Amino acid sequence: MICIPIAEATHQEALQAIERCAQTVDAVELRMDVIADGDLAELISAGRRASSRMKIIVTCRRKEESLMAPTGNQANRKKEISKAAKMKLLRQAVVLGADFIDIELAAGEKAIREIQSFRRKQKSLTRMIVSWHDISKTPSLAKLKEVFQACVKTGADLVKIVPYARKTSDNLKVLGLITYAKEQGRDIIAMCMGEEGKISRAMALPWGSALGFAVLPGGKKSAPGQLTVSAMMEFRRQLRSNQHSVQPWFLPPGAPNFVLLGNPVRQSLSPLMHNKALEAMQIDGHYSAFCVGDLAAAMAGIRGMNIRGASVTIPFKKAVMDYLDEIDADAVALGAVNTVVNDRGRLAGYNTDWLGLMQALKNKMSIAGKTFVIIGAGGTARAAAYGIKKESGRPIIVNRTPEKGRALAARFHCPFYPLADIGKIKAHCLINTTSVGMYPQIHRSPVAAEILANYPIVVDVIYNPSKTKLLRDAEAKGCKIVSGLEMFVYQGAAQLKLWTGREAPLQLMKKTVRERLEKLES
Ligand code: ATR
Repeated sequence: MICIPIAEATHQEALQAIERCAQTVDAVELRMDVIADGDLAELISAGRRASSRMKIIVTCRRKEESLMAPTGNQANRKKEISKAAKMKLLRQAVVLGADFIDIELAAGEKAIREIQSFRRKQKSLTRMIVSWHDISKTPSLAKLKEVFQACVKTGADLVKIVPYARKTSDNLKVLGLITYAKEQGRDIIAMCMGEEGKISRAMALPWGSALGFAVLPGGKKSAPGQLTVSAMMEFRRQLRSNQHSVQPWFLPPGAPNFVLLGNPVRQSLSPLMHNKALEAMQIDGHYSAFCVGDLAAAMAGIRGMNIRGASVTIPFKKAVMDYLDEIDADAVALGAVNTVVNDRGRLAGYNTDWLGLMQALKNKMSIAGKTFVIIGAGGTARAAAYGIKKESGRPIIVNRTPEKGRALAARFHCPFYPLADIGKIKAHCLINTTSVGMYPQIHRSPVAAEILANYPIVVDVIYNPSKTKLLRDAEAKGCKIVSGLEMFVYQGAAQLKLWTGREAPLQLMKKTVRERLEKLES
């Protein structure tokens, strides 16, 4: 839904603006702190006359939370109205049947409670937006989340959070907040003010904000950085048609940024590992995780916000391939992309999962001519078989469901055994690609400990816990072991190399992830 703020200097101009909006937009916000001689009853009925479907929001913003440039001469500029008068106005909006009233969190608990009980007494259908604005900066995402929770606590129907963007990366915090609210099952209106915040204004709607604010051409901006309705619609059109040519202000020269796209992403250690690495590499960029509902919008965001790189995880590794301009041959062969590189709007996809596994194996053994039993027949098993074949090793597929195992084995022209028959085979290395043994099922193993004596080396792709039951059993049988942690770090280092062209600080990344896992396990 696109909303136009009605922030004209006079009642008459406000009426005209409402008329002009009605056929184009979904909602208007009456800025009663700005419309000098605004008659609320008349403005609301003008809105209803102009369009029966257009929602009407009534607000009376505090000076401290508004960046509205003063208009008109000193004489006709509106003076800030008292708190009591504001409350009266909001009550009046309830009585007049506005669709929403917007009250600031700063109005205080008592005032918000008062409005709540007034609405109840009136049996009103008017819903309450509790809003928060910072007109000078964007605080950390953690702080924004706190503010969000404080707004939710008031009983708000809808939360609105609008900080001021000083730099491009501030937009990411606000988009992160939208993701957070969505994860909590809450609707939110969020974007950044300011020139640097234009990106978030364009992105907020496709990212999941309940409302996007724009202005009509020639209309009065109520906050800097607002886009015209047509610019916002054009941007949305471009998102849909997936074109690469974007308006120049979507390509800021600022710091490179990196994201993880997945669903869920909460447990991921990628942000911790990559941010530590970026810091050590002295790269002025940040890596953020986004729990993505709409992959198309997220991919448009990568292009639109000129995000340098993305990691892609479950469940998007295959689907993401539809949004790329080119895909590396290994990723095509694997049918999965876990890394996206954005070269000035051109998106290329790679797969570093198999590279991570190969690197971890190569640290322990040579691959050519050796046999590898791979347990599982999903994407990870496919990556393992692909890498081993490429390095002239000999994979053997073992799987619980024979049809799936056989199909994978046929694809790589290698033998297949049902999981129940694993005791019948021997190889140089055993690789578990199933999720058996992953936290919280830490006491489970995909195979009986006795069969592990058949393998000098045992690998588990699971990294949480860092030493699975399979690896503990293997160690007890005297096998060399490779943890999923190694592979996780190597695949991350390969991503950083693709994004930055530089070698990543492997040891630091390993240490960082290991320490976090130890903390989680203790
Ligand atoms: P990924 O893409 O990460 O490899 P996946 O496609 O879900 O994940 O594949 C998981 C593999 O683990 C599957 O081959 C699955 O076996 P089935 O083909 O029989 O479903 C295997 N797997 C999962 N849970 C298992 C279990 N409890 N015992 C044995 N194999 C299991």
